[in-house]
Amino acid sequence: MQPSSFTTAHSQLLQFLSERMGLELIGTRRDAALSAIRSAMAESDVETFDEYYERITSEDIHLDRLIDAVSVGETYFFREPAQFEFLRNHIITGLQDARGYDTPIHCWSAGCASGEEAYSIAILLEDMGVSPSSRVLGTDISKSAIEQARAGLYRAWSLRTADAAFMDRYFSLDGLNYRLCDRIRERAIFERHNLTAPVAPDMVVAESCDVIFLRNVLIYFGRDAATVLIERLVSCLTDGGWLITASCDPPIQGHPTLESISSEGCVFYRHRKSGARTFPTVRSIAIAPECEQRFVSTLPAAVPTVNEVATKPHPFDRDAAEKASRVGDYVEVIRLTADHPDDPTAKAISIRATANLTGSLGAYRECDRSCRDHPFSVELHYLRGLFLFDLGRSSDAADAFRRVVYLDPTLALAHFSLGTILAKSGDISRARRAFQTAHGLCMAMDPDAIIPLTEHEPASRLAAAARSQIDGLAPADDTAIGENP
Ligand SMILES: C[S@@+](CC[C@H](N)C(=O)[O-])C[C@H]1O[C@@H](n2cnc3c(N)ncnc32)[C@H](O)[C@@H]1O
Repeated sequence: MQPSSFTTAHSQLLQFLSERMGLELIGTRRDAALSAIRSAMAESDVETFDEYYERITSEDIHLDRLIDAVSVGETYFFREPAQFEFLRNHIITGLQDARGYDTPIHCWSAGCASGEEAYSIAILLEDMGVSPSSRVLGTDISKSAIEQARAGLYRAWSLRTADAAFMDRYFSLDGLNYRLCDRIRERAIFERHNLTAPVAPDMVVAESCDVIFLRNVLIYFGRDAATVLIERLVSCLTDGGWLITASCDPPIQGHPTLESISSEGCVFYRHRKSGARTFPTVRSIAIAPECEQRFVSTLPAAVPTVNEVATKPHPFDRDAAEKASRVGDYVEVIRLTADHPDDPTAKAISIRATANLTGSLGAYRECDRSCRDHPFSVELHYLRGLFLFDLGRSSDAADAFRRVVYLDPTLALAHFSLGTILAKSGDISRARRAFQTAHGLCMAMDPDAIIPLTEHEPASRLAAAARSQIDGLAPADDTAIGENP
């Protein structure tokens, strides 16, 4: 039953979105879409659904805002690492063996959001020494996502699984963000493109793709739109080319030219015009119900009940949880941490996993609750600050970082983060003091020591970043001297 306030104007808008973007807007997704529509309406200063429909169908700027509001742009570098391992060890190696090492390889990240997936592919190609004339195309329907992708500037959250060596090799610190190096940025090209459009992007029309990543997109599509999309993408693949979907996407079944290959819990699809099978390990994929149901039923099943926790106490295995997190097995992380709600470290690891599975907003809510349960945990308060910053609530994020430095004045990263937000809000003298404190704390450490609350940031690098922030600030405003940041 529809709520009584549900009108034809609501339906018309949802129908429009479904047709325009291919989205299936039912159940909780319909509620989420309606709430996103309401925020987009407020941003466009429109009060009625009828007037809004008129606006989005006549002015692109309002339609773009709506698309941004309803898109789920959650992504990060090397998401689902096992898929990148398969790309490296089987797909690229296989193509090189077949065609020679100098032949360019063409990849398309379809529904690339802010570009982390396309750049991950570009990094892998560079790392493997694949011909620089290879192409990685990233496309998305969201204009702002494509702009972000082109900028190549990322928050730490997008690099949550990266280690120090990786960061050093490809990124430089830029305020609270990380800037991807030019040599990788130059390997990827981004274009706005709607996957429901009957024509492929120009570059794909010009040359077929060896690999198409279509991850975490089908999950939002209706069955019919998904079928049409798969057919179109298959027609863009070379003979022997690969289609890669995410492990939570609905499986593709019964396609006449797609061979399914299972490896390490992931499924890959290979296009064979002749229908020839190449991998001996092919096995049929279980028919999964609609993906959202699969996700919902997997997660709670992995978490023990309260009784089980009470009868089977065991110590928190931090190493196992961190290892599972490193390989992207977030359901396992949640299983390993679920018995330990009283351990703030377990809670922080679990919240990071939640963020990976469901996005920043859900993780923020869990973190907010956990901060109340663990009011002295600097790790949880710092994480809360990061989520708030990620959600655009800078002033609340600054308060959260202040709380962290109050709890532990020696935490350089918290001073640095606070400085960044203050500088952005124009509070230069407080920002300067926060950066100076961060710099002083880092300089007092062994230069190679890893900064607490980071996985891979050496003290020397944060010191240099703090120094460069101080040098880049406008001259001091003396009026605020003596106040705390
Ligand atoms: C959850 S993100 C996936 C990002 C990346 N592929 C990954 O797996 O990390 C889904 C993206 O699909 C995009 N998308 C949704 N409908 C689309 C459409 N009709 N055409 C192109 N992109 C679309 C959204 O804008 C969003 O950025």
